[in-house]
Amino acid sequence: MTRIGFLACADTLPGAGERRGDAFEHDIEVAALRPAFAELGLDLIEIDWRSPLADFEGIALVLLGTAWDYQDHPAEFLARLDELVARGIAVHSPPDVVRWNIDKRYLQDLASRGAVTVPTLWFDDVDREGVLAAMEQFGTDRVVVKRQVGAGALGQFSFKRDSLPDDGWNMGKPCMVQPFLASVPEEGEYTFVFIDGAFSHGVLKRPAAGEYRIQSLYGGSEHDFAPSPTDLATAQAVVAALPFAAPLYCRIDMARLPSGELAVMEAEMIEPYLYPEQGPHLGETLAKAILARL
Ligand SMILES: Nc1ncnc2c1ncn2[C@@H]1O[C@H](COP(=O)(O)OP(=O)(O)O)[C@@H](O)[C@H]1O
Ligand SMILES: [Mg+2]
Repeated sequence: MTRIGFLACADTLPGAGERRGDAFEHDIEVAALRPAFAELGLDLIEIDWRSPLADFEGIALVLLGTAWDYQDHPAEFLARLDELVARGIAVHSPPDVVRWNIDKRYLQDLASRGAVTVPTLWFDDVDREGVLAAMEQFGTDRVVVKRQVGAGALGQFSFKRDSLPDDGWNMGKPCMVQPFLASVPEEGEYTFVFIDGAFSHGVLKRPAAGEYRIQSLYGGSEHDFAPSPTDLATAQAVVAALPFAAPLYCRIDMARLPSGELAVMEAEMIEPYLYPEQGPHLGETLAKAILARL
């Protein structure tokens, strides 16, 4: 059996200590991939990305899996990926793709290469004045402020004109401001999973009542989604706009603009949850794509 590492972190791995509220997604993904991988001679091994290098002995390729704490330790994470590559281990996504994908300013690249993106203003930091100015510029009463390096809606804010941040508030980090898309709570966010650049399956992610964040941590739910040809073409155009060949896996998250067109919210290539429940063939598709790369 060829050993394939599934990188995780201390609070997504089963066993030791307290786990994150969404660690069950780790279990669902491993349970879906492991048997399908085994059928094709691949042994899937869950491993903490911070494990001693010696523990990676004999692993041919690693998937970035559920290393869901990298965003607070990006330099350490990237250094580890470089070390794995230096040991001859194939890393997916590769460090250069991770470097590009770790900072949401990659959306500027995608936009300049023709993808439809959510309108965004970029700030080294933002305060109450900046939030107000963004509302003026977008002609809206509600915006979302997010970290440029972030995931899982961590450290994210949604401000309305009647609930502005305090005078002394500032984000304290490079951030981005977007108009709040009403379609997210009303309709949901769409995920398109691509394996080696080919569409695998779609997911509609809906927030809980009164929420706008679709993540399971906030009570979001996931549903099967078969995209229309137009919506699929819009997602495919995002993959085509990547400044490198399509990676082994990627997840294109999209939301509907008031114009009716889907826009990319996030193109996740680092440690995306790939929604195996909405794509029952995911394990086999991914295993075959891995075999083709070994
Ligand atoms: N402009 C927006 N309008 C409405 N909801 C948004 C907007 N941006 C983000 N969200 C909500 O917040 C969640 C997290 O934002 P996202 O850009 O996906 O960052 P990340 O997943 O990396 O934290 C989204 O899944 C969505 O539910
Ligand atoms: Mg997201």
